[in-house]
Amino acid sequence: MKVTAIASSNIAFIKYWGKADDALRLPLNSSISMNLSGAYTTTTVEFSPTRESDTVTLLGGTFSQKEEARTIQALERIRKRTGLAHLARVVTHNTFPKGIGAAASASGFAALTLAGFAAAGATLSQKEQTVFARLGSGSACRSIPDGFVIWDKGTSSDDSCAYTLYPPMHWDLRDIVVIVDSHMKKVSSTEGMEGAGTSPLLQRRLAAIPDRIKRCSDALRTKDFQALGDVIEEDCLDMHAVMQSQSPPLYYWSTATEKVVASVRGWRREQIPVYFTIDAGPNVHLICEAKDEQVVIQKAREVDGAKEIIVNKPAQGAHLVDKNLF
Ligand code: DP6
Repeated sequence: MKVTAIASSNIAFIKYWGKADDALRLPLNSSISMNLSGAYTTTTVEFSPTRESDTVTLLGGTFSQKEEARTIQALERIRKRTGLAHLARVVTHNTFPKGIGAAASASGFAALTLAGFAAAGATLSQKEQTVFARLGSGSACRSIPDGFVIWDKGTSSDDSCAYTLYPPMHWDLRDIVVIVDSHMKKVSSTEGMEGAGTSPLLQRRLAAIPDRIKRCSDALRTKDFQALGDVIEEDCLDMHAVMQSQSPPLYYWSTATEKVVASVRGWRREQIPVYFTIDAGPNVHLICEAKDEQVVIQKAREVDGAKEIIVNKPAQGAHLVDKNLF
């Protein structure tokens, strides 16, 4: 059967950094995110008895050997779980450039999980879908459920899963992504977080997370924007402090990143309520409410080094589409 699925990427408000188990992608801490309407992956999977090898195609780009191998491992897990022996053709497309933080692996493995199991004729609970997406890329489990999502770190592979805290329409927030130029060598999140344990700041970060998870979910529940922004920035800066104090150190910010961060602080002094968060890359996500979208976009465009702006609303989770694409 041939099936197409769409999954949004997500931005973490409370970040995942560091694994308790590398192979199972069990995280050291729970995390909270919002699905992004403007950055998504569309993936078609087709299993066939006559196919002699798995093929993986990224439209408008190329997969590295590592990425291809990781995708085929995900197909192997689908075959093992469903008992299907057929090989597959996978065709995928992103609406955004590969390498903008964790975005492509999150939406990619979420879409692959949904399309893959449906194409294999299996129906999984949403909880189990999040577990399989997590095995492909940790943050991918957060792209399966709708809206504002928590990934509970759990105690084993079966209960390290994600679920919706609030649906997309709960709060009309915006994530305005400022894409900046970077000539830095990119270290992937997977590689980067392997060194998390070498940071003397990691244990202090992990001790602070449960309180941040509570503050973030409370702020979402009560729609307290300032409380949400405070905890988002606090956790972002804390994760980057861990990254920067790892051995070898990871510095993901570019000069343009620093300019955007300084500008955000300036805009707040001008009474524009906007906060920043940054993943494993130089691009800056500006979080604001819908009412401030236009002014934030305008300000962001004026920052030296801002190359492109992607505007996101809270989005639904991964879903199948009626009409097969590719
Ligand atoms: C900084 O989910 O890409 O974006 O599990 O190794 O695939 P793997 O890592 P990944 O890491 C995302 C890290 C982050 C923070 C976050 O999204 O929570």
